[in-house]
Parts: sequence; C-alpha cells; structure tokens
Amino acid sequence: MSQERIGLWLIGAWGGVSTTVAVGLAGLQAGVAPETALVTSLPKFSRLKMADWSQFVIGGHEIRETNYAAEAEVLYQNSRVFDRDLLNAVAPRLAEWDKNIRPGTLINVGSTIEKFAGPKTLATRGEKPAAAIKRIRTDIEEFKKANDCAHVIVLYLSSTEPPLESDASSWDWAKLSATLASGDSSPVPASTIYAIAAFELGCSFVNFTPSVGSNLPALAEFALKQKCLHVGRDGKTGETLMKAVLAPMFAARNLKVMSWVGHNIFGNMDGKVLDDPINKANKVRSKDHLLTEILGYKPQTLVSIEYIESMGDWKTAWDHIHFEGFLGTKMSLQFTWQGCDSLLAAPLALDLVRLTEREHRRGKSGVMNHLAAFFKSPMGPHEPEFAKQFIVLEKWADEVAAQQ
Ligand SMILES: NC(=O)c1ccc[n+]([C@@H]2O[C@H](COP(=O)([O-])OP(=O)(O)OC[C@H]3O[C@@H](n4cnc5c(N)ncnc54)[C@H](O)[C@@H]3O)[C@@H](O)[C@H]2O)c1
Repeated sequence: MSQERIGLWLIGAWGGVSTTVAVGLAGLQAGVAPETALVTSLPKFSRLKMADWSQFVIGGHEIRETNYAAEAEVLYQNSRVFDRDLLNAVAPRLAEWDKNIRPGTLINVGSTIEKFAGPKTLATRGEKPAAAIKRIRTDIEEFKKANDCAHVIVLYLSSTEPPLESDASSWDWAKLSATLASGDSSPVPASTIYAIAAFELGCSFVNFTPSVGSNLPALAEFALKQKCLHVGRDGKTGETLMKAVLAPMFAARNLKVMSWVGHNIFGNMDGKVLDDPINKANKVRSKDHLLTEILGYKPQTLVSIEYIESMGDWKTAWDHIHFEGFLGTKMSLQFTWQGCDSLLAAPLALDLVRLTEREHRRGKSGVMNHLAAFFKSPMGPHEPEFAKQFIVLEKWADEVAAQQ
C-alpha cells in the first residue's frame, strides 16, 4: 500500500466531535492512543490494507474562532473527556492543524447556529451560493495542494441544521445547479453547499449529522457524474444503536412492543443547538423512524432531547419499553445508557474516513450502502437491524479481501 497523504477536511472543525477526532488521530499517529472502539482495527477489517493513521492530515471549515487546545480544554474541564498526558503529547500536532481551518458559510443554517459565528464568518454573510461554493472549493483545493494529498475526504460534523424547507428535494441536478448559479439566495442549506463544493473537486463526502447534506436526488446524480463517494446520515452512537439491537429481539420473539419512550439529556454545544425546536425536529425524526422499520408496525413512541448543562458531554438516555407477552401480559424493559458523546462518535467518524478511503482506492462511486451500520438514517437501500447491517459490512470486507 502506498503511503500517500490523505486530507481529512472537517466541517464544524472545532466542535466537540471534530476536536475529539483531531485529538484521537494525533494520539494514534503518535502511538499513544489505543485502538479500542475502532471498528477498522478489528482483524476482519485491518487485513484490508487500510490507510495508516500517519497518512492523514486535518483541515476544515468552522464558523467560530477558537483552536483545538482551547476546545479540548473545555471538554476536559467540563466532562473529563481526555487524559492530560494525551493532550500534552498531541498539542504540537493540533496547533499545526489549527492553521488549516477556514471560515465556513452560514447559508440557511438558521438563527440558533448563526449566533455562534465569529467575525470572519459573519463577514461572509450575504454571500451568494455560487460564491460560497467557489470559496469553499478554493479552500479545500489549496489545502490539498499544500499538503500534497492524493485524496480529500470531507467529513461533515457541523451543528444540526433545521430541516430542508424548499422543494429542492424533488429537483434534478440541472435545476439545482442552475438555481444556485443564478440566485441570490439558496434553496438548500450549508450542508448541501459543502457537499457540492466537495463533489466539484472529486472529494468524498461523509455526513455524520442529521442535516440534509448530499441526501438529495440532485446530489446523488452529481456525485455519480463526478465519480464521487458519499454516505450518511447521523452517526449511530448510543441510544439508537441500542434500539437497532433490541428491537429485532422483540420482533424475533413475537413480543408486541406497545410503546417505546426515550428521554435524552445532555449538556454539550450540540445539546444547546438541539434545544431549538426547529433544529431538534431533524434529530427526533432521525431517532424515531427505526422502530417502525424493524417491527413492521408503529408502537406509540416518544423521543425527548433536553439540554441539561451540568451533564456536559455525558449524554444519558433512559428508555422504557412496554411490551405485551403471552396471554396478553404486559411487561417492561428499561435501560439507561450513559455515554460520553464525543468519545462514542469520534472513533466511528475515523472508521468512516478510513472505510471511505479504502473504497475510493477501489475506484468506486455513489452511495456506500455497505456502511449503513454506522448511521441512524442510512442513505440508500439498507437493512434496519444492526446485526444485519454488520453482516453487509463483513460481506463487503470479504469482497475487498478477495480482490487484494
Ligand atoms: N456526538 C454524538 O454522539 C453524535 C452522534 C450522531 C450525530 N452527531 C452530530 O454530529 C454533529 C456534531 O456534534 P458535536 O457534538 O461535535 O457538536 P458541536 O456543537 O460541538 O460542534 C459543531 C461545530 O460545528 C460548527 N458549525 C456550525 N455551523 C457551521 C457551518 N455552517 N460551517 C462550519 N462549521 C459550523 C460549530 O461552530 C461547532 O464548532 C451534530 O450535528 C450532532 O448532532 C453527534
């Protein structure tokens, strides 16, 4: 395997998950971070000539003005997310990557996200969509050249946007591209603007958030035209992972789920954004559709997501599942999931980048359906149960191994 450099371009580059991705990657490069929780380090996948961690270099877009050291310190102080020795060991590498972060775009992000923007991003307000795409593209192009990258993967880790409001979800690429080229305002949000810039450059696009990103027919068409890979949406890290594992058990035993209530509390910046009912709608939808898909009927469901500041990055979900057994007897299962949000998400994000790079090296394009196990709302045709999704991933691994 060649040792070419690979660009990892983070959108939302100084957010909680991105900062943890940067700290984790720098730790792996320095040989001071263990590979626990990395799926691609399992023997089934590590045999696939995956890219070495040392090959990756980070750049990105962000709307706030800060740096990795400051953001890692916040995670450490509020939630004890990292080990102090690890932070000291990776500080020089993080400072290098800070220099590759550029101001993002605020197109259709909504007022809650706009409030976070620093002066450099605010100065871009009013930028036409075509100009924003060109600016984003230039930033990525310059980074690619300066770092001599063979390929750049754009990893979307930005705040959850409000749901798409225009009818662009039914447009083809000709209509969307013409509208963006001529218009003062955009029919699509920032996540899609970033995806278009990525595809124009031949980059892969991975959407770890519930935002629309490349999940539009027009973008599917454009990705194929540009021979680009893409995948999403919304990383399946905690409570929804439990749902995708437990719901098939109820279905297989013919136990009738009558209701499934999930209360989520957490206190990080993502929680603050999701406190806005408009942004929250996107996340709730992403967490709620799964049960009907797996069970084949819709039980009564309630998903609540509340911002509780003192919880910091420790997201706690309490789920109550009320089900009917033999002779109509009602029973219940309750579980509490207490996970550190950034530390659950970051290894999956790193896995997705490595798996995308491997698929790019095979010359593939389009939606990576085999990565459904990583997402709450996978794009493209997929099995909803986690175990079946993982079998699909293992089959892909066997296919890649057979070609090596
Ligand atoms: N942590 C998890 O377990 C998990 C799981 C699944 C999905 N996600 C999603 O991942 C995303 C990131 O989560 P987080 O905890 O890091 O959130 P965060 O709020 O800490 O980070 C988001 C970052 O994006 C930046 N940003 C906002 N709009 C931007 C724009 N238009 N351009 C560039 N940067 C922009 C913000 O300034 C912030 O730094 C969220 O959408 C979240 O819902 C997280």
